[in-house]
Amino acid sequence: MKLLKQIELGNLSLKNSMVMSAMTRSRADIRGVVGDMTVQYYHQRVSAGLIITEAINISEEATGSLLTPGIYTQEQIDAWKKVTKAVHDNGGIIIAQLWHTGRVGHSIDRNGKLPLAPSALPIKGMQHFTSQGLKDYETPGKLPGTKSNKR
Ligand SMILES: Cc1cc2nc3c(=O)[nH]c(=O)nc-3n(C[C@H](O)[C@H](O)[C@H](O)COP(=O)(O)O)c2cc1C
Repeated sequence: MKLLKQIELGNLSLKNSMVMSAMTRSRADIRGVVGDMTVQYYHQRVSAGLIITEAINISEEATGSLLTPGIYTQEQIDAWKKVTKAVHDNGGIIIAQLWHTGRVGHSIDRNGKLPLAPSALPIKGMQHFTSQGLKDYETPGKLPGTKSNKR
C-alpha cells in the first residue's frame, strides 16, 4: 500500500505518508511548560511518518488560550526537548508548529496585558475561555511594527 511506503518530503525522508496534524491539547502548565503527559502523547504517535506538534506560543505576547505550551523560556525549551528525544529515539520526525494568536486571547491570562493585533478591533459575538470562565473579547493593542490600527 502506497500510504505505508517511504516518501521524500523536501529534505525529510518520511517512513510513511501519514502526517499527524497539529492539535492543541491544552495540557501545559500555567507557565506554558509541557510535562510527562505530552511526552507520552507524542511518543504514542511515533509510527506516523511526520508529527506536527500542537501550536506553540512564540512569546508571552503571542499567548492566546490557557494552558497552551510555549517555547520561549529555557524551562519550556527543556520540556520540549524531552518530547523530541522520545520521538527521535523511536525513529520519528517531529516539527513544531509556532503561533501568535493575535487578538484571540485575554488579559486575564496574560499578566494583565491586552492581546495584540494589526487592528484595534475586538472579536464580537464570541467569548474567550479564560481561567476565570468565559469572557468577552477585549479591544486588542497594536502589534509592534504595524503602522495603523485603522481599517
Ligand atoms: C482539538 C483540535 C485541536 C486543533 N489544534 C490545532 C492547532 O493547534 N493548530 C492547527 O493548525 N490546527 C489545529 N486543529 C485543526 C486540525 O489540525 C485540523 O482539524 C486537521 O488538519 C484536519 O483538518 P480538517 O478538520 O479540515 O479535516 C485542531 C483540531 C482539533 C480537533
